[in-house]
Amino acid sequence: MVNYKDLGLVNTRDMFARAIKGGYAIPAFNFNNMEQMQAIIQAAVETKSPVILQVSKGARNYANQTLLRYMAEGAVQYAKEMGCEHPEIVLHLDHGDSFELCKSCVDLGFSSVMIDGSHLPYEENVELTRRVVEYAHQYDVTVEGELGVLAGVEDEVCAEHHTYTRPEEVVDFTSKTGCDSLAISIGTSHGAYKFKPEQCHIDPATGRLVPPPLAFDVLDGVMKELPGFPIVLHGSSSVPQEYVDMINQFGGKLEAAIGIPEDELRKAAKSAVCKINIDSDSRLAMTAAIRKVFVEKPAEFDPRKYLGPARDEMKKLYMHKIVNVLGSNDKLAK
Ligand code: G3H
Ligand code: 13P
Ligand code: ZN
Repeated sequence: MVNYKDLGLVNTRDMFARAIKGGYAIPAFNFNNMEQMQAIIQAAVETKSPVILQVSKGARNYANQTLLRYMAEGAVQYAKEMGCEHPEIVLHLDHGDSFELCKSCVDLGFSSVMIDGSHLPYEENVELTRRVVEYAHQYDVTVEGELGVLAGVEDEVCAEHHTYTRPEEVVDFTSKTGCDSLAISIGTSHGAYKFKPEQCHIDPATGRLVPPPLAFDVLDGVMKELPGFPIVLHGSSSVPQEYVDMINQFGGKLEAAIGIPEDELRKAAKSAVCKINIDSDSRLAMTAAIRKVFVEKPAEFDPRKYLGPARDEMKKLYMHKIVNVLGSNDKLAK
């Protein structure tokens, strides 16, 4: 049993309370490898932002949960080495799908876990989430629950259609489970293909597809039922068109990849939404940078020569999200 506090990590409680009060959101960036982790921590340190490093089930299978945990422990020391005296870094399990998985993360030193029972019948979701909360809270580990289903197809997160969160369920769910934050469904989805072109209209100025707006009325309904309760938005990548174009220019084939407009995320970040999950955008930044090197320098075969530029591109992206979209810069407690 390892307690996250001994690793220098923090849970989400304080940072969420400050984020709601201050009208900004904490970035939750997924990581699977060293370059992503370095880029996230460099960006968080340079902007003085709290940050959530999150690990999906797919990431655990890819990189090994123990290694990822030691990397997060290393991240705290890395941040300090870069001059951040009191970094606020959360190690979070993304989309935990069983009590056993959540327990194993708590026992290994994670400071926060998500139990995603959103696909289960309501009462089963309540019971599973309640059990995870009961276990995690013994160690002061915070728990994210979910109500409503996001559409999108990923390795471990898969649903054909979304179902918006029902505001009339949120008080019952949070009081019965005791969860610390609630992920909701208001029209975001996972991956780089969040909307079908036929759902969008064309912006005459840019010729780009503009997706339908998020269901802010559902978010308002949730906030009315649960004033001041921390809300989480999954599926919040914007799918920057410059990365899509760059990937296609250098031999990739991404067609009609569409994300959430940044203006909508800015609006969400100012509300009770205090955690915004971003994964796909960093995949796009990394892929675009690597493809560019492969095409422009075909003789290059030292991985540092393409993973280095990929790391720089991801850092640029993370800093942009923190400063220009979520507003979590300069928000460390000390
Ligand atoms: O929510 C999904 C995250 O983007 C993680 O995706 O399961 O492919 O690691 P993954
Ligand atoms: P994106 O696929 O939009 O980056 O969402 C990531 C996410 O929600 C991780 O839980
Ligand atoms: Zn998610």
